[in-house]
Amino acid sequence: MNENNIKVFAPATVANVVCGFDVLGFAVNEPGDEVVMRMTGKPGITISKITGDNGRLPMDPAKNTVSVSVQHYLKSIGRNDIGLDIELHKKMPIGSGLGSSSASTVAGLFAIKTLLGDETDVASLLPFAMKGEEMACGHGHADNVAPALMGGFVLIRSYEPLDVVRLPHPEGLYCAIIFPDVDVPTREARQIIRKNIQMKDAVTQWGNIAGLVSGLFLNDIDLIGRSMKDILVEPVRSMLIPDFYKMREIAMEMGAVSFGISGSGPSVFAFTRDEDTAHRLTQKLQQHLTGIKIGSNIYVSTINDKGPRAIG
Ligand code: HSE
Repeated sequence: MNENNIKVFAPATVANVVCGFDVLGFAVNEPGDEVVMRMTGKPGITISKITGDNGRLPMDPAKNTVSVSVQHYLKSIGRNDIGLDIELHKKMPIGSGLGSSSASTVAGLFAIKTLLGDETDVASLLPFAMKGEEMACGHGHADNVAPALMGGFVLIRSYEPLDVVRLPHPEGLYCAIIFPDVDVPTREARQIIRKNIQMKDAVTQWGNIAGLVSGLFLNDIDLIGRSMKDILVEPVRSMLIPDFYKMREIAMEMGAVSFGISGSGPSVFAFTRDEDTAHRLTQKLQQHLTGIKIGSNIYVSTINDKGPRAIG
């Protein structure tokens, strides 16, 4: 990094964490996206390069989530005079349920904040990152952008007003992620879920959310595991994921603490108590998907407590 140029990495995230639809998420170490940002001296934002997206993302700065959220930030601090050029390097699959648009947006916001020497808390960037989410999938949920920005495990206690809480988590909890190569756009995965729920289902769900949060505070991995159940969203979205229940059975038999959909899918993830189980589990599930002719990407990570970082 110098005063005119920076390269930033921002991490992928697992939103919902099974029971906490739109209110819980955590960051992982890999995958993630990279943004290179350069001050140009000529007012306005340009996007000179996007790699790793197979031509799927817009180069038009008025339509790209990274430039649009950076533009919102610049407007909020009264710096529309600034000139920027952005390169976006996608290092993770789009439409994967791993917070792909969030990772890009957060990398862009962290880059401009750092270039301008803005010392305010990184969480102050959240409303701008949520604008990017709104553009990417029609809804400004924060359960990917908040952990991507702040790192760690995050609770969105309230959206209006925005109230975001960093949660502790047990050391040594591993996250095994499998991304089956099928397309599940978040916008569509949000349209198919139920709009109304029964009181008895709500009771089950908020019991589980409270159980999961308690487990995180108490360092109680068994409580975390038995609380990660979703009776509201998973029954519908699991239909979009090949062999979802078979994959869960395999994961639980191999010693996973829990298993569920990452964000809106199609990625799935399991928590494990150790790295070896996480590697064996991802390999086994990848083999299973290969057996039904579905390609996949696999990742093993601890929870990433740092969030975005300058890498050049
Ligand atoms: N909470 C969002 C959803 C996350 O489930 O639609 C999207 O990654």
